[in-house]
Amino acid sequence: MSAEIRFAETLSEGERESLFGWGEMIFGIEDAAYRWRPKELHFITEEGGRAVSHVGLVRTRVSVGGRGLTVGGVGGVVTRPEAQGRRLVHAAMSEAARYMCADMGVEFGMLFCLPRLAPFYARQGWQLVADEVEIEQPDGPVVWPYRVMVLPCGGRTWPAGRVEVGGLPW
Ligand SMILES: CC(C)(COP(=O)(O)OP(=O)(O)OC[C@H]1O[C@@H](n2cnc3c(N)ncnc32)[C@H](O)[C@@H]1OP(=O)(O)O)[C@@H](O)C(=O)NCCC(=O)NCCS
Repeated sequence: MSAEIRFAETLSEGERESLFGWGEMIFGIEDAAYRWRPKELHFITEEGGRAVSHVGLVRTRVSVGGRGLTVGGVGGVVTRPEAQGRRLVHAAMSEAARYMCADMGVEFGMLFCLPRLAPFYARQGWQLVADEVEIEQPDGPVVWPYRVMVLPCGGRTWPAGRVEVGGLPW
């Protein structure tokens, strides 16, 4: 069966169930009950008419050391267990990176992850943000306790300074 990446502005209920309904705690962080931003764009990998892998994207602005930057927020990265390890996320991540840098015109990609996944994204060119990152939650701002990674578009360098996301993470 050949896998195909489709690009969409919404996910159907069936796609959501297929992508995110296959287990408990699939992101390993659900117990912390963070609130997340809905994604605006979806790279859906389909196989045999079924959504098996997903990379979500939002376009937003963050503040870094007081300076505004436009970023492509990547989130909801997932592959159904039976399709994992076949580089489906690698393929969708490079598609999403090309799209956000070339078509969305953002300066950097940006994602939130657990420490165990940082090497996986680093092997795809993403860089760890060293400074503190503040996100908004319903009760107010909190510092993200795990990892934030960025992907420079073109030859950019991520500036130093505290990051304020100014909204929910994605
Ligand atoms: C992580 C995940 C998205 C990878 O999807 P995939 O389609 O299997 O990814 P690929 O086949 O393109 O690449 C496999 C890579 O995932 C890494 N990986 C998979 N599970 C991992 C885990 N639990 N911890 C660390 N790395 C993991 C592998 O080491 C491999 O890395 P490499 O190719 O650089 O050597 C998938 O395992 C998944 O859906 N996990 C649950 C949800 C999740 O954690 N999402 C990430 C949120 S930031």
